[in-house]
Amino acid sequence: MTISIIGHGYVGLVTACVFADFGNDVWVIGHTKEKIDRLRKGDPIIYEPGLGELLQKNIKAKRLHFSVNYDSIAGSEIVFITVGTPPKENGEADLSAVFEVARNIAKNLSDSKKHFTIVSCKSTVPVGTNKKVEAILSKHSSKNAKFSIASCPEFLREGTAIHDTINADRVVIGSNSKRAIDVLLKLHESINGKRVITDLASAELIKYISNAMLATKISFANLVSFFAEKVNADVEDVLDAVGLDKRIGRIFMNPGVGYGGSCLPKDVMALIDVGKKLNVESNFLTEIEHINLFAKKNFVNKILKNSPGKKVAIWGLAFKPNTDDIRFAPSIYIIEELLKEGFSISVYDQEASNNIKKIFADKIRYASSAYECLQGANSLIILTEWNEFKQINLDKVKKMIKDPVIFDGRNIYDPMTVRKLGFKYYSVGRP
Ligand code: UGA
Repeated sequence: MTISIIGHGYVGLVTACVFADFGNDVWVIGHTKEKIDRLRKGDPIIYEPGLGELLQKNIKAKRLHFSVNYDSIAGSEIVFITVGTPPKENGEADLSAVFEVARNIAKNLSDSKKHFTIVSCKSTVPVGTNKKVEAILSKHSSKNAKFSIASCPEFLREGTAIHDTINADRVVIGSNSKRAIDVLLKLHESINGKRVITDLASAELIKYISNAMLATKISFANLVSFFAEKVNADVEDVLDAVGLDKRIGRIFMNPGVGYGGSCLPKDVMALIDVGKKLNVESNFLTEIEHINLFAKKNFVNKILKNSPGKKVAIWGLAFKPNTDDIRFAPSIYIIEELLKEGFSISVYDQEASNNIKKIFADKIRYASSAYECLQGANSLIILTEWNEFKQINLDKVKKMIKDPVIFDGRNIYDPMTVRKLGFKYYSVGRP
């Protein structure tokens, strides 16, 4: 098939590379020439494991093309919209990019009698958005253009995006057009996962509810950690045992410094906003956000109370491992709070330091290695569970750091082992 994908972020570029790799002819459209030029040369711009290789392979095979104009739309059977929907100040999803793209698609839709185009939104959009896209397409396209709209939400995670796209738990297609559903099913033939065929509104809601449920699990785990800390219980033992109940499960219930990233925080906010507009009582979602904020505050308080001095080393800045993404990363809040308290901070992250530099510039020091970061520090703070830290030589850490104190926001070490090595060790929800 020939498909066009508007946007080249995590969803757009990964989707493009995967479908090109399955033999489709894929056009990626962006609006910044400099970025399109970099993509053409095989530079994925973002850090995502395996993406550079897949990109270069499919450019070489001439199945993947990049452009700043919408010429490819007229020859495409499917057009995916994958542009960002960032939160506005009030939490509402900003849909301006989606609507602008829809107008551009409309103007470039083929009006040939033989051509039929499926326009499908992969961006996370509030219920009703696809209907608005459909109205824009009708208004701005030639009256002979034939198209159908479909919602095809994406569930990939950063860090494992290629694997998740190919091995999806489910492929959701929402449309009231049988033709659109059939064409999208055909495109997804090589993708693993159960097919869920539904209407537009349900498909849109499935995406928000999935992310809200994931955020709920994390906030619930963090709430358990607050209880555990008060009564000297071990949150990991509690959740391990609770999770053995098959109805509950243990996956995605790891307590820590709260959820970050470009999706869970934004989508919970947007769902709260949708709830207000629809008059749906959704204080439950607001509480999920409160707990997420409190997880960060609680961790900062632990540092303020127990760090022997005001010089700290931070390991891990990305909102999770295997990405350089720092959007809504807990590290940002924690660094800001520690700076307010007069701390001097050195940081290390194998991928995200350059992005953090754009926010904090010379207010903090950027180390070139985990060990180098420790020089002169009164304590070590761990905020992202990169593999590199899990089996690091803790004897060497003890020699390099001024005071042997660790604040572990991701519970990556066994408390007994670290204490035996002579560290004071503060983790999340463990005695
Ligand atoms: C999330 C969803 O997991 C994907 O299914 C979805 O497609 C994506 O959003 C999206 O909407 O595009 P992602 O943002 O890449 O994916 O990251 P997650 O793996 O969900 O992690 C989010 C945050 O939760 C991270 O900060 C992570 O450290 C934290 N987390 C995760 C916990 O604190 N505890 C856990 O048990 C799991």
